[in-house]
Amino acid sequence: MSKETFYITTPIYYPSGNLHIGHTYTTVAADTITRFKKLKGYDTYFLTGTDEHGQKIEKIAAEAGVAPQDYVDGIVTGIKNLWDTMNINYDQFIRTTDPEHEKTIQRIFKKLYDQGDIYKSNYEGWYCTPCESFWTESQLVDGNCPDCGRPVEKASEEAYFFKMSKYADDLLKHIEANPDFIQPESRKNEMINNFIKPGLQDLCVSRTSFTWGVPVDFDPGHVVYVWIDALPNYVSALGYLNDKPNLMDRYWPADVHLVGKDIIRFHTIYWPIILMALELPLPKQVYGHGWILLKGGKMSKSVGNVVDPVVLVDKYGVDALRYHVLREMSYGSDGVYNEDLLVSHINSDLANDLGNLLSRTLAMTEKYFGGIIPKEREKEAIDDEIIELAEKTPGIVSDYMDKLDFSRALEEIWKLVSRSNKYIDETQPWVLGKTPEKQARLAQVMYNLTECLRIVTVLFSAAMPETARKIGEQLKCPEACLTWDSIQQFGGYPEGIKIERCDALFPRIELEKKEEKPVKEAKTKDKKEAKANSESQEELPEGLITIDDFAKVQLRVAEVVACEPHPDADRLLVLQLMVGQEKRQVVSGIAKYYAPADLIGKTVILVANLKPVNLRGLESNGMILAATKGKKLSLVTVDGIPSGGKVS
Ligand code: ME8
Repeated sequence: MSKETFYITTPIYYPSGNLHIGHTYTTVAADTITRFKKLKGYDTYFLTGTDEHGQKIEKIAAEAGVAPQDYVDGIVTGIKNLWDTMNINYDQFIRTTDPEHEKTIQRIFKKLYDQGDIYKSNYEGWYCTPCESFWTESQLVDGNCPDCGRPVEKASEEAYFFKMSKYADDLLKHIEANPDFIQPESRKNEMINNFIKPGLQDLCVSRTSFTWGVPVDFDPGHVVYVWIDALPNYVSALGYLNDKPNLMDRYWPADVHLVGKDIIRFHTIYWPIILMALELPLPKQVYGHGWILLKGGKMSKSVGNVVDPVVLVDKYGVDALRYHVLREMSYGSDGVYNEDLLVSHINSDLANDLGNLLSRTLAMTEKYFGGIIPKEREKEAIDDEIIELAEKTPGIVSDYMDKLDFSRALEEIWKLVSRSNKYIDETQPWVLGKTPEKQARLAQVMYNLTECLRIVTVLFSAAMPETARKIGEQLKCPEACLTWDSIQQFGGYPEGIKIERCDALFPRIELEKKEEKPVKEAKTKDKKEAKANSESQEELPEGLITIDDFAKVQLRVAEVVACEPHPDADRLLVLQLMVGQEKRQVVSGIAKYYAPADLIGKTVILVANLKPVNLRGLESNGMILAATKGKKLSLVTVDGIPSGGKVS
């Protein structure tokens, strides 16, 4: 029986500069779901690439004094290096300058023209003479050229147009009959109500005012314009109307086109209409994700405020960055990039939760059994709960992965990590280790922990392949124990294996490095302290936390700059805070105790690294501290420390 297939694409990126963390997010997400589907036995195909034509590239290359092809070749090398750095395992990297792609575009253009879907007319726009560029009304900045700021004049040029409106009814029917076609749901309504129902404009598909594009072979002087060059990359890559190996029968229609919210319109309106005109089946789903924003708003290559993924990988490692973007961005919504949050993910989820589980499990297996868990084992009722959780987690994770909800999928995996750490505290292997007659029980505890580690490792292997490989090596797991089937039942970790412990996978990141004592002295001290801590950690009485646990909570001084009642909840106030330069909205249940006006100007203490929550429709990004007793409540405030200050 042939395998079920899974074909996924990212947008093809403009090679107009370095790619940033936003592009990295899309590509890591596509890579992760592809690896996960492969793990589940699918025949997968993952396409990414670059969108290389157009006036903008032509101009940048001219400014750099190089031919457009040489210019894009240089950038594309950089993009491919970035994907290698990010451990992206694509099947094909398509470039719109590939001769086979160009062949497809010319053939599509001719076919659509011959069947009457494309016609010749005039393109009206705004022309900037010094820049030799056409702009649309919406691209102008204060009525002037967005590039040089000089005045523009109305101009027109001969161009071909695609009759979009002809297919609008069929498209609407398709969208309504296929609820999964546009995801998330909110984007679907936006497309229908804002674009399709008001009536589709015909699409300009050729230009004569620049030459860097696929020539229209039957009308010299015209080059194919933007979307009708870019969108068909998804089929030209599979050999549609060209001489590449034919993969259309195997992979088309695509399972998912993963795109950012700004280009969902082109993928859910123009692209399906082009496909309908070509009588090709439509993709099963277009998934529009949100954007990674900076505190001040959008990242922009021209403003120069982009977050460079290569710098972050150098600093924190590739899997830490992969984990962070997948965990932080709940799909569909925007997220804010913040390096402190990345560090907090590394320290708490990776170093603390996962790292501790791994090092404690392996260290104790080595210490008590010389690295090999004995076969004589003794079960107890307390094991049932963790075994049940370990057996149901793969199914839950798989459901979230299918919905492309990576954040929730990782959250579920980490529930098993946390449960395993709690199991160590419950079973206290260090106490069992002191009692010779409890050896079989100790062996069972160590087996259960190793088995949970194996299961979580397989589950996160798509998100963090390198970490999974390293843990697999330490557990000495044979290939057969790292498969999807092998984690459906608890107990797949083989007998007689000798584990091999290595260095910590995710060393804790010290945020306050600069304020530390001279490195050498601090290090020796750290080592002693770390030893003392690790010895005491195993015997921590219930209810106590370590200094490391406390350090996870980031407390900051914040100033209330605005405050109003929550529109839908009498109990809640909506506070706008300044934390240094950063603006935060916090929703707090203190309406009974404070009038909004009384709070403005107060300097309060904010728990700054809490995961944002939605409270009655408004996002709350942190929590402010208050003291309570009986019916009294008083916000904790500070004097003399400006907003942004740390509380420790
Ligand atoms: O649009 N966060 O290319 P592009 C998340 N060539 N995603 C972001 C982002 C951010 N801050 N900034 C940009 C193009 N993106 C076309 C695509 S496909 C046939 C042609 C996403 O390089 C953006 O939403 O400008 C888009 O999905 C992708 O990066 C490529 O943007």
